[in-house]
Amino acid sequence: MTFADFMETALFDTEDGYYTTRASLGFEGDYVTSADLGPAFGRALARGVADLWVAMGKAPTWDLVEAGAGRGILMRDLLGALERERPDAARGARPAIVEVSPRMRAEQALALEGRDLRWASVARSLAPIHGVVFANEVLDAFPVHVLARTAEGVREVFVGEENGALVEVLRAPSAADLRWRIPESVPVGGRWETSPAAAAALVAGYVVLIDYGGDETELLTRQGAGTVRGFAQHRLIADPLIEPGLHDLTASVDFTAIRRAAEGAGLQLVGTSTQREVLVALGIRESAARPSTPIEQLRAASRRSAIDALLDPNGLGAFKVVCFAKDAPNEGLRIFGGVRTESPARYP
Ligand SMILES: C[S@@+](CC[C@H](N)C(=O)[O-])C[C@H]1O[C@@H](n2cnc3c(N)ncnc32)[C@H](O)[C@@H]1O
Repeated sequence: MTFADFMETALFDTEDGYYTTRASLGFEGDYVTSADLGPAFGRALARGVADLWVAMGKAPTWDLVEAGAGRGILMRDLLGALERERPDAARGARPAIVEVSPRMRAEQALALEGRDLRWASVARSLAPIHGVVFANEVLDAFPVHVLARTAEGVREVFVGEENGALVEVLRAPSAADLRWRIPESVPVGGRWETSPAAAAALVAGYVVLIDYGGDETELLTRQGAGTVRGFAQHRLIADPLIEPGLHDLTASVDFTAIRRAAEGAGLQLVGTSTQREVLVALGIRESAARPSTPIEQLRAASRRSAIDALLDPNGLGAFKVVCFAKDAPNEGLRIFGGVRTESPARYP
């Protein structure tokens, strides 16, 4: 099978896939995301989302869709912050989650208990979406085709079996168009990963994507080395073929390909930035007055160190944030450092 099929099976097979049977997120699990570091991340994003709602003309009802919600804590924190800080926006929000894993859905249902929320397996079935779609660390879980430039031409990585072990096999690409996806400058011996599935998931509205990866130029500085890797209990697993289904598999996101696909689907690029710049622009550092009791001071110190981790320029702070718009203003948004004055509601 192609490496993309292997990754799809290892992650999502209904009986043995990692996300279906054993995905464990958070400090006790295999890996943490920004949402695990406390509510500051969701609160900052809630401000960004409220801005997008204002830019859309303060629609009385609007969709707030998270794709790939993991444990559901980002949606929980974001909705909670929206209700506290922007009840005008929260009132008409129709939250929904696009999630493929029944196991993850069960965790999300627990985190979001008591809320009126819809679930879907593909974004398409929530159409027409009018509002904001966001995804944090989801595109990196989309299966990738791995292409290799060899002296004989472009080949694709397939997974085969040899003496009871899984091994890589190089063959002609499984689809004709894959051959053209590897940039000219990838040298002989170099590799390139491409994910047609990622493109198909983009929908109309504002789409905010946060993930690790880079644009094509940044990825090319890796000299054609692949990025596919696994994670189990916070340890890196360099060989992705080992013990499929028992650990997470992920690949850095090619944001140039995402932009091409989004623009091909009629979306316009609003901006790209880093998580650090976006969270600072959304006021993640603005805090209340210094607490007076020692225990509150301790809590505040722990919140500050979580925020430092979210902003770490060599860690989570370096993640990319990219936003696309369809039939909605794409200038002056605070998440990209713009200043937009609130105009009167389009809807009374
Ligand atoms: C790394 S977790 C991210 C969790 C969450 N967004 C966070 O910030 O903590 C990836 C999530 O995306 C889900 N997922 C992966 N591929 C998906 C797809 N094609 N459609 C919907 N959900 C997907 C996984 O089941 C999991 O819940």
